[in-house]
Amino acid sequence: MNHRIEKTVLFVKEKLKDAEAGHDWFHIERVWNLAKKIAEIESCNREVVELAALLHDIADPKFHDGNEELALTISGEHLVSIGAEADIIQQVLFIIKHMSFKNSLETGPASALMTTGSRTPLTELHIVQDADRLDAIGAIGIARTFNFGGYKNNLMYDPEIKPKLNMTKAEYKKNDGTTINHFYEKLLLLKDRMNTVTAKKIASRRHDFMLKFLEEFYNEWNSNDTSC
Ligand code: ADP
Ligand code: NI
Repeated sequence: MNHRIEKTVLFVKEKLKDAEAGHDWFHIERVWNLAKKIAEIESCNREVVELAALLHDIADPKFHDGNEELALTISGEHLVSIGAEADIIQQVLFIIKHMSFKNSLETGPASALMTTGSRTPLTELHIVQDADRLDAIGAIGIARTFNFGGYKNNLMYDPEIKPKLNMTKAEYKKNDGTTINHFYEKLLLLKDRMNTVTAKKIASRRHDFMLKFLEEFYNEWNSNDTSC
């Protein structure tokens, strides 16, 4: 493993040692692995992809009073400390800044974004964004979502509370709806927002699994068990 990646792994593991289970080191490790897999057939800067995947949740605003700059400051300082070149640092920070689902609600598709100075790492952004979104869906996505809902003490489900579609970033952030609604407000939308061919394929299976889960959930909720 490249020396700078190795140092970053140690740094992230330490920083996230008390993180909520859906945003902990294991989430980072899965996203890192998915990003490497997606990067196999894309022409991109692998080091930028790996560093951004490793650092992308180093200080998620959700867990830091909404502070959106902290992740950039912490990541920037770390990248300087491991001797990354200015160009690499700019690209990694660009990805961390623009990859989140919330931010895409406000800024629109990432392809519309530009940086000044260094090369805009759009392919690398797309890869890391896809990897993070894949970890939000499927069986792991379901587990993470219920874990987060529990962490926030939200209801699992309430048939009276309807999902809110087309939320702005501000509405999305303060939304304390049910965990089942989060499927309609975010998780089921992700399949069609994948950027790369590899992620689209993986997403399709994970999406179908969530639909089956929801069907079963409603059956059990309504005592519609077909087995007796
Ligand atoms: P990003 O960090 O990409 O902006 P989100 O803030 O939407 O994305 O959340 C990341 C993950 O946290 C989601 O995939 C989900 O597992 C969990 N999460 C976020 N908001 C909720 C919610 N309201 N209910 C349940 N889980 C949530
Ligand atoms: Ni993430």
